[in-house]
Amino acid sequence: MAVLSTQGLGVAFGAKKAVNDFSLEVGEGQLVGLIGPNGAGKTTTIDAITGFVPATGAVTFDGTDISSFSSTQRARAGLGRTWQSSELFDDLTVMENLQVAAERIDVKGFLRDLVRPRNDDLSEMEAILDSLELTGAAGVLPTDLSHGQRKLVGVARALAARPKVLCMDEPAAGLDTEESQALGRRIRSLVDGGLSVLLIDHDMGLVLTICDYLYVLDFGQLIAEGTPAQIRADKRVITAYLGDRHGESEAEANGMPEASTSNLQEGEG
Ligand SMILES: Nc1ncnc2c1ncn2[C@@H]1O[C@H](COP(=O)(O)OP(=O)(O)OP(=O)(O)O)[C@@H](O)[C@H]1O
Ligand SMILES: [Mg+2]
Repeated sequence: MAVLSTQGLGVAFGAKKAVNDFSLEVGEGQLVGLIGPNGAGKTTTIDAITGFVPATGAVTFDGTDISSFSSTQRARAGLGRTWQSSELFDDLTVMENLQVAAERIDVKGFLRDLVRPRNDDLSEMEAILDSLELTGAAGVLPTDLSHGQRKLVGVARALAARPKVLCMDEPAAGLDTEESQALGRRIRSLVDGGLSVLLIDHDMGLVLTICDYLYVLDFGQLIAEGTPAQIRADKRVITAYLGDRHGESEAEANGMPEASTSNLQEGEG
């Protein structure tokens, strides 16, 4: 049974339909990929699902129609997300960033002196850091971490709120191949541990390797869905990524590094 689904989701910015009549399902304990070229509507889909942009159609989470819920209500219900751009508070330590996300710190004014974390909270958050191989980073400021580690703290932060479903917007962006693969393995093991994930990423090697099922958007429209093997063989997907539809170069048109597009054609590498 789907723990998260959309029914005919639509988002318009003025006359532009950024997402059009999009229905998707994320099963319990499933890792579902959402891919597509730049501007395809991927982030807008997650914004609509998590309540950050008004949408038509419906969003069902854990058996409840949450279409009328605010973003805060959706987060409290267990629908988590990570952001495409950096989301960390640079003047809070890694542990404090996690506590803010778990709403155990008064975020207004960063009242550090009033922080009285309970020990079980601390050990739970340390376990989250451990699970992402961020052991020892709790007291560090995000600015002292590598880009890859910062991305991981973004994931840890989302996990600190104990989501049932986590929507991740390009968690591997900016990571090198090795870091990206390591992150992929960690996401996969979170899912194997029971978390359900909707994952956006441009790294085709990554998504085709770790996802159970994928949806492909182009210009706000669903152009394909299926297993990694089905997506890899889909002509419309290959055209969407490699086609020169915008009168730009291939790289500009699809916004993907060459290595990623070749992964799409050649498989997992
Ligand atoms: N707030 C906004 N106002 C107007 N147009 C927007 C807004 N947000 C997104 N768009 C447009 O909606 C379309 C979908 O954007 P979106 O950010 O969802 O794409 P994306 O698939 O996440 O792309 P990327 O891979 O570059 O992150 C784009 O054409 C974008 O310019
Ligand atoms: Mg995006």
